[in-house]
Amino acid sequence: MKARLLIDRDFRVGTIDSRMYGSFIEHLGRAVYGGIYEPGHPSADERGFRRDVLALVRELGVPLVRYPGGNFVCSFDWEDSVGPAEKRPRRLDLAWRSVEPNSFGLNEFMAWASQAGAEPMMALNLGTRGTDAARNLVEYCNHPGGSYWSDLRISHGVREPHNIKLWCLGNEMDGPWQIGQKTADEYGRLAYDAAKAIRRIDPKVELVACGSSMAALPTFPDWEAAVLDRCYDEVDYLSLHSYYGNKADDLPEYLADSVGMGEFIDSVSSACDFAKAKKRSRKTMMLSFDEWNVWFHTGADDMHLAPWTVGPPLLEDAYTFEDALVVGCLLITLLKHTDRVKIACLAQLINVIAPISTANGGPAWRQTIFYPFLHASRYGHGVSMDIRVDSPAYESKRFGPVPYLDAAAAVDEDAGEMAVFAVNRSLSESVEAEMRLGGYESWSVVERIELAGADPKAVNTSARPETVSPRRVDGGASVEGGVLRTSLAPLSWNVIRLESARRSSR
Ligand code: AHR
Repeated sequence: MKARLLIDRDFRVGTIDSRMYGSFIEHLGRAVYGGIYEPGHPSADERGFRRDVLALVRELGVPLVRYPGGNFVCSFDWEDSVGPAEKRPRRLDLAWRSVEPNSFGLNEFMAWASQAGAEPMMALNLGTRGTDAARNLVEYCNHPGGSYWSDLRISHGVREPHNIKLWCLGNEMDGPWQIGQKTADEYGRLAYDAAKAIRRIDPKVELVACGSSMAALPTFPDWEAAVLDRCYDEVDYLSLHSYYGNKADDLPEYLADSVGMGEFIDSVSSACDFAKAKKRSRKTMMLSFDEWNVWFHTGADDMHLAPWTVGPPLLEDAYTFEDALVVGCLLITLLKHTDRVKIACLAQLINVIAPISTANGGPAWRQTIFYPFLHASRYGHGVSMDIRVDSPAYESKRFGPVPYLDAAAAVDEDAGEMAVFAVNRSLSESVEAEMRLGGYESWSVVERIELAGADPKAVNTSARPETVSPRRVDGGASVEGGVLRTSLAPLSWNVIRLESARRSSR
């Protein structure tokens, strides 16, 4: 089948904030214990950080990591996680029914994130706790010294403040599963109060208020409007969370999930704009999609399997090739919404619904979903273009016509680089694509990469870590007369990289 695409230098969606390629480490399952931290592992450094995992995290290119939860944070006392490790208490983590030994805590995370090349996004407990614990944590982290909490940090061996910029005001506060669940009015009031206190300590912080935990909850989207009615002026972003899955084993329908993601972003933007209008505000609320991924191979009920142990194997989804294609479509959707989505976190990073898996005492490997994320974080920079796609479509039960070809384009004019990301959703037919490069007629193809040809249910394992991996396609795309032509295999994720004439002549 044939498809036509168009970009034009003058039509752009928005600047791509590199924090759109963030991820998430929660004290959950083996994300921390047996994931990033495993003293005694052959690759562990003197602090117990697994070097093999750090190398994969750096390769993946994650500029932002959200921490320490998730549901975990809503009954977590941060004070337990600092100071001499041997004095830290073992606590029951009520969110995941595990034991939290607190041997890896706040200052360890900050050291790990710096080695991973990532900025922290710190979540505050607004479940069992409130403004007081939040303001103390911000003082501990960001105040230079000369006060109780900042001096405590210094006494813990951390002389310079962490200067953490990005803070989440709680997590999924409308969720019936949440310890400390709140009504929109209760939460909006608390977010307002906590934000006010935090900003007095550090006016440079950026604050994220909780949106609904998921679009399916009956509180959506009234929650968004009611929460923002209370705290619109005090916060910088509203959060979105969404997970996708092929529960009915219907691949075309599953590949259409990204359409739902786009509609969700549009609805949340509308709810924010309603609050803006009501407030007569000049400020447009930006979005933080700080939990997104495929998650359905395992469920949150896992937490009852090995209760009250340290680092139990929870939510360890083994991702298939079809999951990687869906993650590719979700990345394309995020890129098409960069006017509103400035922060996004693939949930999560290691072992727990993650692109990187480890065996305790054994190897670390790349899951199938590692690759589309790696390509987007490595090449999806600059400005997201307002791409037009004219493609044959199929009928989805939920979304009506869904184009077989899904695509986004990112252009970094300073670097002279462009990346086109495309998924062919057809199970059987190639797409012969022609893309008109308005304003970029002289650019040429540098590289074409594809993830294709695998069994949709294929997974990568420690024994066969490369079953699903990308390949470079030589001569698979070319530009002539300002038109990029390429053929996209059925069920494929594709990256076509171009460069400007100026760059190629260097
Ligand atoms: O990412 C797993 C869990 O999903 C998080 O703890 C929670 O915020 C969400 O419900």
